[in-house]
Amino acid sequence: MSYSAKIGPSILSSDLSCLGSECVRMMECGADYLHLDVMDGHFVPNITFGHPMVECLRKTVGQDPFFDMHMMVSRPEQWVKPMAAAGASQYTFHLETTTNPGNLIKEIRESGMKVGLAIKPGTTVEELAPWANHIDMALVMTVEPGFGGQKFMEDMMPKVTWLRNQFPSLDIEVDGGVGPDSIHKCAEAGANMIVSGSAVIGSDDPRSVIALLRTVVAEAIQKRSLDR
Ligand code: DX5
Ligand code: ZN
Repeated sequence: MSYSAKIGPSILSSDLSCLGSECVRMMECGADYLHLDVMDGHFVPNITFGHPMVECLRKTVGQDPFFDMHMMVSRPEQWVKPMAAAGASQYTFHLETTTNPGNLIKEIRESGMKVGLAIKPGTTVEELAPWANHIDMALVMTVEPGFGGQKFMEDMMPKVTWLRNQFPSLDIEVDGGVGPDSIHKCAEAGANMIVSGSAVIGSDDPRSVIALLRTVVAEAIQKRSLDR
């Protein structure tokens, strides 16, 4: 089994005027990576930031932290090169936004980034499956993308279970409403990359929340390896 438990705080719920220090704080609290939500006001009804911000964040946090760019944008092809140049580590685009995922996957790789492929709640996992062997990570959204602080959609868990069974070594990420109350469902289903926004950022003790989320996922991974 090649995957491990990783916790990536979504800094969308933080004080956006302090993004740099919030990213540093999350890494100091034990985050394994940072999940950065890019929204264009078109694919989703909200707008956040683009590659100029990523370039600044990279300077602030240094070369090491892994930046998972969650690209909630209508034209993901447009931002591959600028994001790579800005210091993005992984480019996670939405399957719903492109008619040629194969070409986009190739472009992302050629730009030196890892490839993530996301699906909205209304998109089936069978639509993602043909690409699963060509990507580094599948993202199963557990809310409608656009805003932090929404309710976790437990009915997305069969998608995660199906993916884990079909692709035993794939990195599978969940995003939306994930925190101490919902982490057990995600871990049991087979998710190993956990995005958590408001539950981590809004906590008085983010370090403990991150550690708890990681422990639950690591235990589920260990159990799965013993069951095999
Ligand atoms: C929603 C974003 C999420 C969001 C998660 O569209 O993709 O990353 O910030 O925040 P919580 O954990 O609060 O749902
Ligand atoms: Zn996200």
